[in-house]
This record gives sequence, structure tokens and C-alpha cells, in this order.
Amino acid sequence: MLSIVPLQIDYIDEIVTIERESFGDPWSKNIFLDLLDYPLAVCFVAMEQTPVGIADTPFQKGAVAGYLIAYHLFEEMQILNIAVKESMRHRKIATKLFGVIFDYAKNENIQEFTLEVRTSNTGAIKLYKKLGFKIDGVRKNYYANPKEDAVLMSLRLGL
Ligand SMILES: CC(C)(COP(=O)(O)OP(=O)(O)OC[C@H]1O[C@@H](n2cnc3c(N)ncnc32)[C@H](O)[C@@H]1OP(=O)(O)O)[C@@H](O)C(=O)NCCC(=O)NCCS
Repeated sequence: MLSIVPLQIDYIDEIVTIERESFGDPWSKNIFLDLLDYPLAVCFVAMEQTPVGIADTPFQKGAVAGYLIAYHLFEEMQILNIAVKESMRHRKIATKLFGVIFDYAKNENIQEFTLEVRTSNTGAIKLYKKLGFKIDGVRKNYYANPKEDAVLMSLRLGL
């Protein structure tokens, strides 16, 4: 069973493991720790609860399946990071994380989502298009490790 919850300090070690398996230029543990106190940050974590089926404890402590990090800037949400544990991909976990942040946006009068993605990351680009994002342009040499252009994408709400 999957549940989506706000970021907590206890999840950060597992998040850092997923981050390292997902990116050539991963965020450090300190970046995730700083998010806990950063007022603009909106951070959701997908937790997979594994039934153990014994005694009166129905669920083990959950394992982190994925996370989504955004900044809320006035009427805009900037998606800064999303990743799903490699062994749990293609189970709509990223789609569910976006569903939760879209619900958040509806309650907060957000007008637009923006994000950047590596040009080679065709899987993520397909996901974003499926969610309704459109390509706005390309930012040359935006990424390091390896050096690469970014595709800029956005989604206007209420259109
Ligand atoms: C991109 C990522 C977050 C997708 O997570 P996910 O939980 O597997 O995505 P979902 O299951 O919600 O995918 C929904 C749809 O998006 C598209 N999609 C997602 N990942 C895809 C991939 N690797 N290749 C092609 N299409 C993909 C598919 O259309 C998919 O629907 P389908 O499975 O019915 O075909 C995950 O692959 C990941 O963590 N990648 C490494 C980190 C990363 O690249 N993050 C994005 C940085 S901008």
C-alpha cells in the first residue's frame, strides 16, 4: 500500500540512497536536511507500507518509494526534483506524487508549474507530457556531470 506524506527527517537517508541511484549529479544529504526548514519548500514522500501479516501490527515501518520537491513562489510551483526508487518504477508512483502536488496547488491558488529536465531524459519528458506539461524551450549547457542542455517545461492550471 502506498501513502504520500510530507518530508520528515527520518526519511532522508533512504531518499539520499534513491537520489544517488537516480542521478549522476545527486543532491547531498545537507540539501535535503535544509529543505525541512525552508519556508518555500513543498516536499512529498511516497511510502510503501509492507504488510507483515503477523500478530496485531498490520504494517512494518514504511520504506521510501519516491519523493517530489518543489518551491512555492507566489502563484508558481517550481518542480526541483522527483525520483522513484529504481525497483519501484513504472508503478505510477511519480504520477501519484504529482497528483498530491496538484491537489496542494488547487488549494493554494497556484497558476503555473515549471520544471527543467535533461534533454536525454526521455522517460521523464514523456511522464511530464502525459501530465499536461508543454515544452517552452531549451537552456543551453544548463547541467553539469555530464554537461547537457535542459528542456524547459510548464503547465498552466485552469486552462
Ligand atoms: C522519471 C521517474 C520519476 C518516473 O517515475 P515512475 O514512478 O516510474 O513514473 P510513472 O509510473 O508514474 O510513469 C507514468 C508514465 O510516464 C511515462 N514514463 C515514466 N517513466 C518512463 C520511462 N523511463 N520511459 C518511458 N516512459 C516513461 C510512461 O508513459 C508512464 O506510463 P506507462 O507506465 O503507463 O507507460 C523515474 O523514472 C525516476 O525516478 N527516474 C530517475 C530520476 C529522474 O530522472 N527524475 C526526473 C528528473 S527531471
